[in-house]
Amino acid sequence: MTDLTNAPVLVVGAGIMGAGIAQVAAQAGHPVWLHDTREGAAASAKAALAKTLQGLVDKGKLAADAAEAALACITPISALAEAAAARVVVEAIVENLEVKRGLFRDLEALLADDAILATNTSSISVTAIANGLRRPGRLVGMHFFNPVPLMKLVEVVSGLHTEPPVAEAIFTLSKAWGKVPVHAKSSPGFIVNRIARPYYAETLALLQEQAATPGVLDACLRGAAFRMGPCELMDLIGHDTNFAVTNSVYGAYFQDKRFGPSGVQRDLVDAGWLGRKNGRGFYTYPQTDADKAL
Ligand code: NAI
Repeated sequence: MTDLTNAPVLVVGAGIMGAGIAQVAAQAGHPVWLHDTREGAAASAKAALAKTLQGLVDKGKLAADAAEAALACITPISALAEAAAARVVVEAIVENLEVKRGLFRDLEALLADDAILATNTSSISVTAIANGLRRPGRLVGMHFFNPVPLMKLVEVVSGLHTEPPVAEAIFTLSKAWGKVPVHAKSSPGFIVNRIARPYYAETLALLQEQAATPGVLDACLRGAAFRMGPCELMDLIGHDTNFAVTNSVYGAYFQDKRFGPSGVQRDLVDAGWLGRKNGRGFYTYPQTDADKAL
């Protein structure tokens, strides 16, 4: 099995997930290249991480030298070619099959033959992403949860091509990063998103019917011992990503209405109200008590 201890890692996509994945890999001691096609995004993610780590140091939760060492591990890059020596890639770009396929084709041309290609897709078939690669057996799902530094679960998702030692190497790597991995097959939504989609769908149906406000819904579910309510969770995920995931799972289950998308999601995306990441979704951010009562 490929030993990935201290292996150089390339994280592609420096958004919500990619930034968190880069942090976790760096804190585990890996050299990390961070790339995003949006100019300045990788550097901004590193700057934001510097603030986060400093906050942990100030609270006494992290030693100053550990914070410094983790930060020094991350190199923002503007061209993928700078990361040709990466042994493992974690892709966390937009939830779109063709864009992901194009990226992996480029990566295959760049990286060594034994480099592992991991995708953080939430819902797209790992089998479909791998199809068309020269060596599809080295592509595997490595599905983290948001926020990456805090959430322990990683679904290690095998498609039809995925070679078992590749899945095993990512399983072991996830453990080394302090995560709790599980093996999953590449069925639509994998495990968590298969179960969570109808939960979001019912929430959105209640909103569509104006049966309850986001504030009331969230208060109810938090009151029922969920850590977050469904609306604040969708704001955290990002409505563009969440809508793409809904559509992907809905299509993959041949339009089974349990997984259907909602006009509420589409309106939020059309309005550009993507959630926490751009300051407004169901709520505005930073959140006020008035928002909570919405
Ligand atoms: P995001 O929108 O915060 O970040 C995506 C980043 O990818 C953006 O900065 C964008 O500029 C960049 N990008 C797009 N195309 C690119 C390309 N061809 N090359 C390099 N960079 C590119 O999205 P987020 O939320 O980080 O999601 C990324 C992936 O992670 C998606 O596949 C999503 O389904 C998955 N995911 C998201 C979760 C969430 O809660 N948001 C949870 C688990 C997985």
